[in-house]
Amino acid sequence: MFELPDDVLQIQQLARDFARKEILPGAQARDHSHTFPAALVTQLAEMGFMGMVVPEQYGGAGMSTLAYVVALEEICYADASVGVTMSVNNSLVCWPILAHGTEAQKQTWLPDLASGRKLGCYALTEPDAGSDAGAQRTKAVLDGDAYVLNGTKIWITNAPYAQVCVGYANLAPEERHKGVCAFIIDASSRGFNVGKLEEKLGITSSATSELSFENLRVPRDNLLGAERRGFGIAMATLDGGRIGIAAQALGIAQRAFDLAVAHARQRMAFGKPIGANQAIQWMIADMATRIESARLLTWRAAVFKDGADATRASHYCSMAKLAASETANFCADKALQIHGGYGYSKEYEVERLFRDARITTLYEGTSEIQRIVISRSYLG
Ligand code: CAA
Repeated sequence: MFELPDDVLQIQQLARDFARKEILPGAQARDHSHTFPAALVTQLAEMGFMGMVVPEQYGGAGMSTLAYVVALEEICYADASVGVTMSVNNSLVCWPILAHGTEAQKQTWLPDLASGRKLGCYALTEPDAGSDAGAQRTKAVLDGDAYVLNGTKIWITNAPYAQVCVGYANLAPEERHKGVCAFIIDASSRGFNVGKLEEKLGITSSATSELSFENLRVPRDNLLGAERRGFGIAMATLDGGRIGIAAQALGIAQRAFDLAVAHARQRMAFGKPIGANQAIQWMIADMATRIESARLLTWRAAVFKDGADATRASHYCSMAKLAASETANFCADKALQIHGGYGYSKEYEVERLFRDARITTLYEGTSEIQRIVISRSYLG
């Protein structure tokens, strides 16, 4: 597949127009003031972008994963902080409810999440369960008609603004991942405590915080999937999440590339544009080649995810994330180099792109974790 279908091209154009007109102009200011883009999230929801693959019967836009990643790249071209807010709601919250929820759960939770009336967060990571996600220590105990949750989650994107949380807790921590359960949690419940906002290197206008669950009662009806099957849900959810982060990384990379080309054309040194030098030309060529490669992998993973054999998508999702996130860092670094001292200044957008790119090789699985997933699919 080398060309996007017409319906996806239309979504791409819609996202591009909105991103460049409405999101890009304020991105620097939001980054500097660390302002959460609440109004933009509302506008994205009105466009159907907060529940893109959720079928219309549950209030979503009913689009393909390919349309989702293409739109997300455009949003992240303008501002990766807005993009991750959208990505978490789509990939990590709507998707697991859609794929693993009961009919009643889908009807209860998806319309609000897809319409933007509610925002979602995803609580898996713990102080001692980052890359080793199976080491979940947040405890779940069944008590009558509810599970009682106690524990701490960290680095939770969207948490300070979320009304819904897809969260994980363990019935038997000594059995590691085999005791993990997935829950849909109402964030207004007593015992759902949001900690301080994290100060981050990049994506500063997205909101990240710790969560603590203190005797948090989650109704039995809110168990997502079967008891003790939560880890598989977490992993399958992250497959889709990783294509979302690949799209985010592509948006950052493409913006860095476009700024680098513009600067290389107009910046004069030694009587000619710096782009007339091979040192710059090679950087531009390498950036372009890596972006195109990573984009094709991302589209392929998205098509696989919607295909009949979606279980085979895992390693393609990891390949897409690995390639795109490393590309984002490469391109942001080269764009900064091409800008010289200007690139190091907060006045220039490449400085923000350089910081925003850095998270993409870390969250939703580091590059090292992606390599584990990829190599296991070949070596077992
Ligand atoms: N889909 C469904 N099930 C899967 C799966 C997948 N993609 N991958 C694994 N599983 C299942 C396995 O089949 C196995 O099931 P059984 O017990 O029934 O046999 C079970 O999960 C355990 O699998 P593994 O033995 O492979 O598990 P592991 O302990 O070796 O861990 C890992 C594998 C890939 C390293 C995993 O721990 C991992 O992905 N770690 C990274 C965690 C991560 O990405 N965290 C991101 C946090 S969220 C975030 O970052 C959001 C944000 O801020 C924006």
